[in-house]
Amino acid sequence: MTSNFLEQCHKNYNLQKLNTLAVPSIAEYFLDISTDRLLLQALQFSQKAEIPLTILGGGSNVLLPDKIMGLVIKISTQGREVLLEDDNSLTVRFAAGENWHDTVLWCVKKNLYGIENLALIPGTIGAAPIQNIGAYGVELMSCLERVEGFYLSTNELFILENEACLFAYRDSIFKQSMRGKAVITHVTLTLSKVPKLHVEYPALQEQLISNKADEDSLSALDVASAVIAIRQQKLPNPEQIPNAGSFFKNPVVSKAIYKKIYNEYPAVVAYRMADDTYKLAAGWLIDQAGWRGKLLDNICMHHKQALVLTNPNHCTTQQLLAFVDKVQESIWDKFHVNLEIEPIQL
Ligand code: EPU
Repeated sequence: MTSNFLEQCHKNYNLQKLNTLAVPSIAEYFLDISTDRLLLQALQFSQKAEIPLTILGGGSNVLLPDKIMGLVIKISTQGREVLLEDDNSLTVRFAAGENWHDTVLWCVKKNLYGIENLALIPGTIGAAPIQNIGAYGVELMSCLERVEGFYLSTNELFILENEACLFAYRDSIFKQSMRGKAVITHVTLTLSKVPKLHVEYPALQEQLISNKADEDSLSALDVASAVIAIRQQKLPNPEQIPNAGSFFKNPVVSKAIYKKIYNEYPAVVAYRMADDTYKLAAGWLIDQAGWRGKLLDNICMHHKQALVLTNPNHCTTQQLLAFVDKVQESIWDKFHVNLEIEPIQL
């Protein structure tokens, strides 16, 4: 079984094309997984042979090391199944390897509401719950029903309902206590047939006006089209300029710290949260510290959106992290704010 399984794997496989930052990274063994049966075989093999297992989705939110020992698998399983339908909603179970943006398009073309604000986010649907993807005033948690998968230690099935996923801003149980311990196989979403729009985000409002969309009869497709237009204007396409979207989280600080920053920099972009803390726009902080568009060590914070680290010369993760240290240090020196990185470091 052991040698048979490895026969179908690629040896010393470069994952550069499988991560959107285009970081060179060699997997000792690599296999693309297109069925749940093959996934179970990979899990059983890695346990029996005591070979470490690393799981990749769309590779759009990870930082890969130069070399990954053991087996790396990419989840490419496809499929969608309608579980429930009534006059108001449709509940659909998606296989983890489905492309996220294609899923959004599938929904909006069927006039299903819920994820239209999340158009053009790179990656797979199986990776989406890990960091509770969010954009333009909507987070995945608002329409996620449940997440299914396997525990890596026992190959047992798990089913976590929305509440149990412990979703928060760019966070979930899969990034915390279940990190590295599970593989997601299916995600179930409940989408609304009744229009439920979230168009309060200022940039989205402006775009809808410039698209001449009729505010009174906005469809999910209108909103998705506006989001696509904004993202295409501001965010680099990873196929042209390697990047992983927002590289840092927007830091949340106490009211006292916010007030201190505001007194010195009244233009600071911040959003007051329900608990009286303040979420600062990390892009603004990085921009103010002079990093926007500045190429250093072949790495650059994007010239149209300083929150997006770009890797045009395919540097390694080690080189990216040395650059990131400099950005974090300068933000600390200028604002006394700690920036946390958003992608998951494997
Ligand atoms: N800003 C600058 N300079 C910059 C970038 C931003 O001054 O170079 C200021 C702007 O004034 C803007 C504010 O920062 O008003 C916030 O910027 P933006 O509206 O672009 O949103 P963001 O906070 O930078 C977050 C998400 C994005 C998501 C957008 C829209 C995080 C870490 N990022 O970005 O998510 O698309 O809001 O909702 O929360 C991603 O996670 O990969 C991602 C792109």
